[in-house]
Amino acid sequence: MPSRLTIKAFIFDLDGVITDTAEYHYQGWKRLAEEEGLPFTRADNEQLRGVPRRESLQLILKGRRYTEQKILEMMDRKNRYYLGFIRAISPRDLLPGAKELLEKIRAAGLRTALGSASKNTGEVIDRLGIRPLFDAIADGYSVERQKPAPDLFLHAAAQLALPPAACVVEEDAAAGIQAAQAGGFHSVGLGPAERLGQAEVVFPNLTGVHLADILTALEGENKVR
Ligand code: BG6
Ligand code: MG
Repeated sequence: MPSRLTIKAFIFDLDGVITDTAEYHYQGWKRLAEEEGLPFTRADNEQLRGVPRRESLQLILKGRRYTEQKILEMMDRKNRYYLGFIRAISPRDLLPGAKELLEKIRAAGLRTALGSASKNTGEVIDRLGIRPLFDAIADGYSVERQKPAPDLFLHAAAQLALPPAACVVEEDAAAGIQAAQAGGFHSVGLGPAERLGQAEVVFPNLTGVHLADILTALEGENKVR
């Protein structure tokens, strides 16, 4: 059971936690899938949460074989669609409660990091205007093995010079919760319990969630809010 004293930092996923870019990733893949005549539904997209670009495409292709050149072209095309969507992002696109929580964590003397598989992390946080709220950033360029491997969060913790047990990971993806647990981090799932049931604590989202709520929930553990 973690005590408040042992928790020193929070590591946030980006897409689907701080801003709803998870929807833009879906829209980008959906457009590509339609152009290629591939079946792809919102339900299929649930498997892609937190999954890197190439692995996401592989899940959409469901074993269909393409040349490496065609795979790279499709990844690039989806990213162009995604970049088109995020061009319009502004601080208004912060999900409710996210910025308030980041500010509260820092005001409490705890540290903050970002742990996102996205290679567009820098552009998104700059558009949201929140880069100064992070002490460390781990993104799609930081490590080879992405979620569900723990490497990305370990990279963030190393930048903070903290052990995983002193850090809480905030995630909307099952792959992200697996990564957190594989690395020995505390985990908070944000979304439906069916998706995030493996997390130590689950909240539907960050709306109205205060730092004290998270710490209290982690002390009680395994409670779905
Ligand atoms: C994750 C998203 O944060 O980043 C995934 O949840 C996405 O949907 C992955 O595929 C990689 O993002 P990008 O921007 O590098 O294609
Ligand atoms: Mg996410």
